[in-house]
Amino acid sequence: MNVSPSVWKIKRALNIGSEKELRRSIKNINLLAKEVIRQRREIGFSDKKDLLSRFMLKVFDENLLRDIIVSFILAGRDTVAAALTGFFFLVGNHPIVEAAILDEAVRVIGPTRKPTGFEQLRELHYLQAALYESMRLFPPVQLDSKFCQDDDVLPDGSIIKKGTRVTYHPYAMGRMEEIWGPDCLEYKPERWLKDGVFFQENSFKYPIFQGGCRICLGKEIALIEITSIILSVLQKFRVELQSEEDLVESDGQQSGRQIVNGQMVSRPFGGVPNGGMHSRWSGKLRGRSGIADGVTSQTE
Ligand code: HEM
Repeated sequence: MNVSPSVWKIKRALNIGSEKELRRSIKNINLLAKEVIRQRREIGFSDKKDLLSRFMLKVFDENLLRDIIVSFILAGRDTVAAALTGFFFLVGNHPIVEAAILDEAVRVIGPTRKPTGFEQLRELHYLQAALYESMRLFPPVQLDSKFCQDDDVLPDGSIIKKGTRVTYHPYAMGRMEEIWGPDCLEYKPERWLKDGVFFQENSFKYPIFQGGCRICLGKEIALIEITSIILSVLQKFRVELQSEEDLVESDGQQSGRQIVNGQMVSRPFGGVPNGGMHSRWSGKLRGRSGIADGVTSQTE
């Protein structure tokens, strides 16, 4: 059913229904951001080097600071969580990739197990390849829309009128044969390696962080954050997806692994091979040295 776009305007004017709820939610988020600022002021920020302290040293408009905090929370929290979810889902299904990541970590980082800094993280070529490949199949931002400011023409000749909503779809693009070849549905970190060295694709072929001048501002932070987390989890735990019997939902639908094109892929709840847009899976982290066995995570 199509709802007229003016419905929300009426609701907003009358402050009812979903618009009332939205107003209340925005107020709560703003309160949270202001509380973050207040607490940082209390503990002091002038001698600190974290992102928030740096912004607070430069930005004196309270509302602008609040908006910066909100946009960083929104842009940087769920995206990182989604990237990790997709990654562990695929690695849980590809023990060979897991083993290769660990081999590389021992080779590059050595027995100390903790990277000495950013430079060493960048030397983990296979790990970066495995992450980029997982975000190709499970992009944290699966689709992204823009509204056209003026009449325009796309490079393929499509005429776009002012005000039109234009959406690009990294989830679909990541699974297109024309872009990634006949093995586009397979999880292959090697796709991103040339003679063992990780290389980045053109951001318009792989718009996971968007492209052009409005590319994700937090891309580098995100990559460091995600690779550090992956490394520390995999060094301590083995990821196991739950067996088919464990994954019977109350409506009787099953999830688990199945063979597609000769390859083991995961069939999440609802039965869409290789993950639907909102797939759900369950996994276990098994301690490598026997400690912390059986930590369970379920994610949506
Ligand atoms: C895997 C993780 C991430 C992915 C896939 C991702 C993806 C994106 C995408 C697609 C955009 C463009 C949105 C648009 O303009 O329509 C964007 C913008 C942005 N991202 Fe990220 N992001 C990630 C992590 C982060 C983190 C950790 C931060 C902050 C610490 C961050 C901060 C931002 C900001 C501030 C923008 C707005 C940039 C601008 O409008 O000029 N992102 N991101």
